[in-house]
Amino acid sequence: MKIVLLGYMASGKTTVGKQLSKLLQYNFIDLDSYIEAQEKLSIPEVFQKKGAIYFRKKEAVYLRQILNKNKPIVLSTGGGTPCYGNNLSFILKNKQHKSYYLKVPNTILAKRLVQEKAHRPLVSSISTEEKMLEFVGKHIFERKQYYEQANYSINANTYPKAIVEAIVATLY
Ligand code: S3P
Repeated sequence: MKIVLLGYMASGKTTVGKQLSKLLQYNFIDLDSYIEAQEKLSIPEVFQKKGAIYFRKKEAVYLRQILNKNKPIVLSTGGGTPCYGNNLSFILKNKQHKSYYLKVPNTILAKRLVQEKAHRPLVSSISTEEKMLEFVGKHIFERKQYYEQANYSINANTYPKAIVEAIVATLY
């Protein structure tokens, strides 16, 4: 089985994915880290040097590469992964994949993103929490139609341990 975590930037996909994979004794893959390792560039460098379109093309290629591996995996995707090309249908069509939308209120995401924007090219130039909230609100309004197609929506406005438990509860 493959567990695919979806959700906006700073929704906790990587933290939750690591803990969940430990508990289930699955391999853990973070799509952004995978892209960085394959491309030998950081995510901001990929955007800067190669552009957003190149990033989205590679993201789609590596997503398929990871999901075609023949072993159990917990995969944390990037915030935009399900929103481009046929990525979401690729995730959803395989019944061996279980997908989870980690849902966090916009206000919390905006607070986190102001602190953690340096390595996130899409929001790195937004300086105040007020502007971040405005950006996040509009962006999630466009993206939620994709996130909400996940097999499960999980309230992720809580501790990672509780989120992990909520996911595990859907498995049995
Ligand atoms: C992106 C989210 C990032 C990363 C890239 C684009 C997005 O991943 O893939 O900066 O489009 O939302 P995180 O969700 O891990 O920050």
